Amino acid sequence: MTGTQNWSEDTLRLNAICPYYTMFPLDFPLQQLAAKPETTRTLDPFCGRGTTLYAARLAGLPSVGIDINPVAVAIAQAKLAQATSTSVVRLAREILSNGSQHEVPDGEFWQWCYEGETLREVVTLRENLIGLNTPTAATLRAIILGILHGPRNKGLPSYLSNQMPRTYASKPAYAVKFWKARELEPTRISALDVIGRRVDRMLKSSPLSQGGHVYLGDAVETLQRISQKFDLVVTSPPYYGMRTYVSDQWLRSWFLGGPPEVPYNSSGQIARQPNQEAFTRALADVWAATARRCYRGARLAVRFGALPSARTDPEQLMLNSLRQANAGWVVKEVRPAGTSPKQARQAEQFGKAGSAVDEVDVIAELIGSAMTT
Ligand SMILES: C[S@@+](CC[C@H](N)C(=O)[O-])C[C@H]1O[C@@H](n2cnc3c(N)ncnc32)[C@H](O)[C@@H]1O
Repeated sequence: MTGTQNWSEDTLRLNAICPYYTMFPLDFPLQQLAAKPETTRTLDPFCGRGTTLYAARLAGLPSVGIDINPVAVAIAQAKLAQATSTSVVRLAREILSNGSQHEVPDGEFWQWCYEGETLREVVTLRENLIGLNTPTAATLRAIILGILHGPRNKGLPSYLSNQMPRTYASKPAYAVKFWKARELEPTRISALDVIGRRVDRMLKSSPLSQGGHVYLGDAVETLQRISQKFDLVVTSPPYYGMRTYVSDQWLRSWFLGGPPEVPYNSSGQIARQPNQEAFTRALADVWAATARRCYRGARLAVRFGALPSARTDPEQLMLNSLRQANAGWVVKEVRPAGTSPKQARQAEQFGKAGSAVDEVDVIAELIGSAMTT
């Protein structure tokens, strides 16, 4: 038994603190950890919401994650943080009781998305959490990202917004039209109540943190300045042809200090490469930088895919990038992804993009490089 079946549902909950557009199932990194039992520290250079980091925590190991998207980093940080629900609720209460001097964003979208008092609470939490970096603040921040938008439910509310999807934020013009057409006025929702309920569920039975760090930045640049070494790397680069990581998370980006509108520049995103050759080269650079931070014998497990519209064979692209890296990675296994017990495929998370994404798992071993010890 190497997957999530080893843990209770309550222990796994923290991993679902906030959805992120493309996340792989926890079973994938758990299976890789089981396949490399001598692992001491795990790396994910494209960590997204930190699924690999949470798997390492479950396995009792420290880990390091890197991502260029602040939303991903904020969620991943909560996967490593040690906090109690009492401390998270206390922090939220303290922030809210100090009141707000801050201006709320202007415009129809904001008036329709949140009821007035709820919006003031969201703005107060936002302003006070920016730059606050304790484990409790990291957990509160990720909790709020997870409740910022989502469907209106019948019982006690689970989200702060008017009706919205929870996985991605609707574009303002579309959302306003939707709410107006249905006469869906936003209702008063107490941020503290929703935070309290959510954090109790998330932290009820969370495992002890094992330490580690999440870096905000480009994978190659970050790998060049960190000093740790790893024996297991489990990762999933942006799928080829996938370009909406940043704009789909615009409301969560705003909460973290971004502008109150949809940002269309996604600078630094590896998926922004102009063509397949450049994308392959950029991935090769990541595998080379990763090799320099790995011990000889390290295992690299990559889940990769391409959108059908990109007309690319993800297996070939991935194998070419490892070859071009010329860093000592020897491919041991290539198999179709989604052979985990639950058949949970990352592709299913694409929703709008369709589920016919071609995905592959590539496993490689480091046979040696200039810097291995
Ligand atoms: C497929 S997602 C990873 C999802 C992750 N496995 C999870 O379970 O959440 C790929 C991630 O790579 C990040 N990324 C893109 N370009 C990057 C770069 N140059 N350096 C670091 N991360 C990058 C994206 O922001 C995105 O979060």
